[in-house]
Amino acid sequence: MNPDWYDEGMAHIWLPYSQMKTAIPSLRVASTLGCRIRLEDGRELVDGISSWWSACHGYNHPHIMECMQAQLARMPHVMFGGLVHEGALRLASRLARSTGLERVFFSDSGSVAVEVALKMALQYWRNAGKPHKDRFLCFSHGYHGDTLGAMSVSDPEKSMHKAFKNAVIKQFVVDIPSGEYAFEEFDSLLEAHHGELAGVIIEPLVQGAGGMKFHSPDVLAEIYRIAHKHGILFIADEIATGFARTGTMFACQQAGITPDIMCLGKALTGGAMTLGATLASKAVFEGFYDDNPEHALMHGPTFMANPLACAAANASLDLFEREPRLAQVADIETKLTVMLEPCRALQHVKDVRVMGAIGVVQMQAEVDVHALRPQFIERGVWIRPFGDIVYVMPPFVMTTDELALLTKAVYNVLKDGA
Ligand SMILES: Cc1ncc(COP(=O)(O)O)c(C=O)c1O
Repeated sequence: MNPDWYDEGMAHIWLPYSQMKTAIPSLRVASTLGCRIRLEDGRELVDGISSWWSACHGYNHPHIMECMQAQLARMPHVMFGGLVHEGALRLASRLARSTGLERVFFSDSGSVAVEVALKMALQYWRNAGKPHKDRFLCFSHGYHGDTLGAMSVSDPEKSMHKAFKNAVIKQFVVDIPSGEYAFEEFDSLLEAHHGELAGVIIEPLVQGAGGMKFHSPDVLAEIYRIAHKHGILFIADEIATGFARTGTMFACQQAGITPDIMCLGKALTGGAMTLGATLASKAVFEGFYDDNPEHALMHGPTFMANPLACAAANASLDLFEREPRLAQVADIETKLTVMLEPCRALQHVKDVRVMGAIGVVQMQAEVDVHALRPQFIERGVWIRPFGDIVYVMPPFVMTTDELALLTKAVYNVLKDGA
């Protein structure tokens, strides 16, 4: 029997990415702890996807909780226009130090961080007297969020936003180049269109929601080099890859590049609160810095730099400094590689790939998400496949036993059910 708040509320709630008529019932969560989600009926699930890839230290980490509680007692929120507070400025300095990007603009989610990045690039060129540089180049299988600008730079054909392809601004969409010939073509395209192109936007090393596709640091470095050669800003959307998910603090570091603009979100607060950040290089910032008020960046979300979120983010960065997160990610990478390998031999499996704390089993065809989800739950794990992808992105503090439970569940469910 469901409690009354559930049945009553379900008649009013509108859930994400769901056909409300046919969606399977959502589970009632009572609490979270470590790598586990506790359901109201007493069951416990090992979380294989870290709440959409954000809870990198697991849930309810005592240090994050303490810092948020201390902040809550002082000030949960204050506007950021004309006022500043210690948490936001300390966080800006720390993010600048760890990314090599000088300026930090806070917002309230990943999608908005992307909107700000696009707007920043557009206005950078306007301020420079080149307003015709007003298009972006993005990549097939890319995903940058659910708002209109972010949708315009996501894959228009294959993504979940394909229904909107004629409603958003048309951008240049190409495959991620690989191989000499593809790079020559990419170079020629940018040569031909650099006068229109404000920026190239990419999820570095791993394209997430568009299909968990990987590319190499060399490919990333070459895209960066060619964009710069043609005077086009390079925007790295590290919302999913940032904060050690791919094995380094930021994916761009593996390619030895510093983007012009970087977007952060998700694990920025250790997954405890919503917060986005758009970081800009000194050169990009200088494009706005003059006596002309019209050259200012005209953006300012009501809840930008929310003090509670900044407290969580500062606490999360403390944890990256104090606890061996990068070593834990390296260890998870080794274990996932071994533990997911048996899936390769299963019927209907097309590919198995691992990078950092990301393990992907790609099927030959789309999986029946509705059929698979209850099977994972029966096995005590929380895994949400999409398209042809069954993946795990665990918290970095996951134990070997928990990882084994997750990966065995993937193997057994795909063996029996997919
Ligand atoms: C690469 C990337 N960019 C942007 C977003 C959007 O972030 P949010 O859901 O916080 O708006 C996501 C979310 O999955 C993402 O993976």
